[in-house]
Amino acid sequence: MDLGIAGRTAIICASSKGLGRGCAEALAEAGCTVVINGRDAASLEATASQIRASTGATVIAVVADVSTQAGQDALLAAAPEPDILVNNNGGPPPKSFREVSREALLEGVVQNMATPIQLVQRVVDGMIARRFGRIVNITSASVLTPLTGLDVSSGARAGLTAFLAGVAREIAHANVTINNILPGAFDTDRLKSSTTKMAAIKGVTIEEIAKIRMAEIPAKRFGTADEFGKACAFLASAHAGYITGQNLLIDGGSFRGSF
Ligand SMILES: NC(=O)c1ccc[n+]([C@@H]2O[C@H](COP(=O)([O-])OP(=O)(O)OC[C@H]3O[C@@H](n4cnc5c(N)ncnc54)[C@H](OP(=O)(O)O)[C@@H]3O)[C@@H](O)[C@H]2O)c1
Repeated sequence: MDLGIAGRTAIICASSKGLGRGCAEALAEAGCTVVINGRDAASLEATASQIRASTGATVIAVVADVSTQAGQDALLAAAPEPDILVNNNGGPPPKSFREVSREALLEGVVQNMATPIQLVQRVVDGMIARRFGRIVNITSASVLTPLTGLDVSSGARAGLTAFLAGVAREIAHANVTINNILPGAFDTDRLKSSTTKMAAIKGVTIEEIAKIRMAEIPAKRFGTADEFGKACAFLASAHAGYITGQNLLIDGGSFRGSF
């Protein structure tokens, strides 16, 4: 299917690896110019070269911490009038809620709530004026179903979801949409590092922990960044203009709800 977004410009935050990278690849395949981002220059440049080689797209690499004002300025300097914004960032480290300091709490809110909101504020009026805009936020399945130790992540992302639910309705008239994708367990560096930590705690191999985690998922596997990216590209497509304010859970059936 032609997604109808060739020639559009997309900013994909936190996209040198993992889910963000999957989104950047899918949007580049759809013919978009993509602005990709990460803090580590070497891995960002390697990803930029690979996406250029595999898709022929124009790829602009912006080394920056997206949580900072300077990082957000750099992203918008690279693409002052984006048609598509994919909000993504690192997630807070797992920690018992009793041990979360005020600083860690505020950092999580900046990372997973304030940063995406600030970027939406900065791009949305241009999108409204141009009568096209697609904003996709990568949140987490933990918005729907609590995960012990990820309370800061769940809370900040739920706050983001609620904040933007109203905004989505205010701007829908201009063919500008805001949707969230909620990943369950996806095979990325972040998942590998949590599996490695769990294996060390339980004194078993990484493969054993991965097998146990996969067995709990109805699909019996982890998701891939590629399939995540393709879902994001559809929500960013010309065909998705009537889908807004929605939460797309992609978790291999893990969430046990009929609706
Ligand atoms: N994978 C899963 O199963 C899963 C499930 C639920 C939710 N999530 C959430 O989805 C998001 C993406 O996860 P992932 O698994 O794709 O992670 P990942 O594989 O660790 O990749 C994270 C990417 O974000 C970049 N990044 C991190 N902090 C950044 C910052 N401050 N500024 C700019 N770039 C930054 C990293 O590059 P640098 O380190 O070089 O900056 C890297 O490119 C996270 O918020 C995570 O909590 C993931």
